[in-house]
Amino acid sequence: MAALLRSRFVGGSILKVADLNPLVLKAEYAVRGQILQRAMEIEADIKAGNAKWPFDRVVRCNIGNPQALGQTPPKFARQVLSMIMNPELLATGVSSYSTEVLERARTYATAIKGGVGAYSDSKGVRIVRDEVAAFIEQRDGYPSDPEAIYLTDGASAGVRHLTQLLLRGPQDAILAPSPQYPLYSALATLGNGSIAPYYLDEEADWSVAVDELERAYAAAAKAGNIPRGLVIINPGNPTGASLTREALDGIVHFCQRRDLVLLADEVYQENVYGTAPPFVSLKKVMRDLRADDVPLVSFHSISKGFTGECGLRGGYFELANFRTDVRAQLTKLASISLCSNVVGQIGVGLMVNPPTSPEEKSAYEADRDAKLDSLERRAELVADALNALPGVSCARAQGALYLFPNIEVPPKAVDAAAAAGLQPDAFYSLRMLESTGLVVVPGSGFGQKNGTWHFRTTFLPSPDDIESVVARLAGFHRGFLEEFADPAEPAHPSPSSDL
Ligand SMILES: Cc1ncc(COP(=O)(O)O)c(C=O)c1O
Repeated sequence: MAALLRSRFVGGSILKVADLNPLVLKAEYAVRGQILQRAMEIEADIKAGNAKWPFDRVVRCNIGNPQALGQTPPKFARQVLSMIMNPELLATGVSSYSTEVLERARTYATAIKGGVGAYSDSKGVRIVRDEVAAFIEQRDGYPSDPEAIYLTDGASAGVRHLTQLLLRGPQDAILAPSPQYPLYSALATLGNGSIAPYYLDEEADWSVAVDELERAYAAAAKAGNIPRGLVIINPGNPTGASLTREALDGIVHFCQRRDLVLLADEVYQENVYGTAPPFVSLKKVMRDLRADDVPLVSFHSISKGFTGECGLRGGYFELANFRTDVRAQLTKLASISLCSNVVGQIGVGLMVNPPTSPEEKSAYEADRDAKLDSLERRAELVADALNALPGVSCARAQGALYLFPNIEVPPKAVDAAAAAGLQPDAFYSLRMLESTGLVVVPGSGFGQKNGTWHFRTTFLPSPDDIESVVARLAGFHRGFLEEFADPAEPAHPSPSSDL
């Protein structure tokens, strides 16, 4: 018997994929999908000394992970965290750290019983929830209740709680943008619910139009679905759009009319560039409009902005217009995983409550401005280069960390993609990876209008790298068009730019 079990185990056949939860098999997450798998194989190949690739390293532009591409961590926050992690430093102090660092660290240490190694309350430590509430009040000019704030392992964990809470079965749908950051579709699939896509308007800087929301609502209802919530990602991923006040007003009124829970993903609220519409939270819009019958959940994160602390896994959500008994169900959900990680919770406190002493404040602000200015410059540079390419048009990034260019894929390439069993933009992205080492995500992983093709790239490579990244991308694109050109069609004219 033991021998039989062992042989089945060695053969790897005890647990088969076919035995797994079909919802897990169905869920997709393109940001870390097929192209990244291939990129990892190529990286291993390069490391093993195989020189067959025409580049010496892979550059991961597939994900908004700023510190992986060279962004420095925020200094004040890391100094406070280092003291909290090491109680000896807290006792002795560190001569090169400022008084404010020491005071902040001691304040957290005193307030958080048991320190970062102990479970906290399920909603997160009270001191940080108070800091978040103060931040929201200051940002919006309306009260915020610390009891309605939940600290989470990144925004993702909060979104998971909300989809679990809202989706009762396959008939329930969440209206989500197309293109969409695929967290929402993946979690809806896992939760055995549905996504009802509404299309963002590419011609209008990827804005949200109320007519389109109504169309998506009606289509979902006609298909027998019950729309439960509406996801708004502002600033947008993958589109980079920053929504106008008019659009935000329309969204709140739509939720009011249609009895929907409004899920406001505002993780990019610090990333708004140039003359784009400034960030306004949906909480403020809801309160301005006195729409106190619209249940609203707002998500934020330490992964983005200029903090970029993706690996610390910190985030929060705030509930507004939620009944106390419904909130209790969310608290129960949070308590099933005991609590979010406490280092990430303090990371949230440090994001929403930056230093105030003159020396720390000026260093903090200089660092923030330099990082945001640099992101803006890189966004412009990549968008200009993309728009100079034949068959490519790219809306400028008004916010977030991404560009989502529209690419015309030549018919011969569409045929080649079909022969390879790939969507045309996946074929394009794979070819880009294999000829340049750049990892981007095909538009089909986010959803897009039928017949259009895109890819998403971050503009996060460091200022030293970005020009060479752009030149590689442009070289690849021209080569791709040449390779798949229809001999009957005249070639695209040469560009004046040398990109
Ligand atoms: C729109 C959006 N929401 C949520 C997240 C999740 O972020 P995290 O879980 O790191 O806070 C991301 C990450 O890229 C995102 O782009």
